[in-house]
Amino acid sequence: MSSAITATSATRPTSAAGDPPGTTPAGASQRHLISIDDLTRADIERILDRAESFAEVAGREIKKVPALRGRTIVNLFYEASTRTSSSFELAAKRLSADLVNIRSAGSSVDKGESLKDTVQTLSAYDPAAIVIRSPHAGAAQLVAGWTDAAVVNAGDGKHEHPTQALLDVFTLRRRLGSLDGVEIWIVGDVTHSRVARSNILAFTRMGARVTVAGPPTLIPRDIEALGCAATPTLERLEQADVVYVLRMQHERMTESFVPSLREYVARYQINDRRLAPGQLVMHPGPVNRGVELSAATIDSPQALIGEQVKAGVAVRMAVLYELLVGSPSPAAP
Ligand code: NCD
Repeated sequence: MSSAITATSATRPTSAAGDPPGTTPAGASQRHLISIDDLTRADIERILDRAESFAEVAGREIKKVPALRGRTIVNLFYEASTRTSSSFELAAKRLSADLVNIRSAGSSVDKGESLKDTVQTLSAYDPAAIVIRSPHAGAAQLVAGWTDAAVVNAGDGKHEHPTQALLDVFTLRRRLGSLDGVEIWIVGDVTHSRVARSNILAFTRMGARVTVAGPPTLIPRDIEALGCAATPTLERLEQADVVYVLRMQHERMTESFVPSLREYVARYQINDRRLAPGQLVMHPGPVNRGVELSAATIDSPQALIGEQVKAGVAVRMAVLYELLVGSPSPAAP
């Protein structure tokens, strides 16, 4: 669809991104960011242009704007997270929103409360947005059906991680100007990676050519349907302008997908020996140092990993702004 971010009901006009406050019909459903598939290239470009202006705010001494003053954002994280949770937290705070951070450990989820009950409980605070990370594919979409808040998918199982893809496109666009015609290789554990799915969609939508590479057991059979090529070896890695390395997702592996980590390192590790000068290296973090990436490569000037983390705050500010500014505020008549 052409609106920036999915509307879950036909009652919501699709031109919502720039609506002035108060124009949304009462009872209209919220917009959400669940999947990159819901965004056109123009939508992505508009979000990233807005992120550029928020990146400028990050360079100021006072890194705060009043855009979401008086609105409430709930971060609901049912899975481990360092970068995504901290950058959503900073994004909400820099937009002046009130923020509630819930982690499954230590919350009533530990006592067996279901996702639906938790969302309905938190919805009593009338949040403008709920940011959700869950080990289950489809969780963000379910949450969108249980609350009036805008829902942002911060990673749902092996399915998608759309804000990671947006911040990666932002980082590359800043470095290269445009992704048109850029060759991007995504290397490693594609099967268990929500980042790979979202990034293949986002990179190709922005004009890049994407190849996924890794052990056949870690490349889904139908992956080409997403618009990329697939290869089991790194023999042609020199073709890549950008090498996007994925983490071996041990926590999602129920059986042995590679004979041994030593063999994986020998055949697929990205290191100085495999990289050509000028090739850029990205990784969503957290890195298994010395497994998918060598320690020297992580710390080399070819790696954009620190820039990716930095981009996370500005891009998540832009996503929250897109979703919430223009929707009626709780105080609106
Ligand atoms: C990714 C995730 O959680 O999906 N990390 C992140 O959000 N920065 C990738 C990963 O865990 O490997």
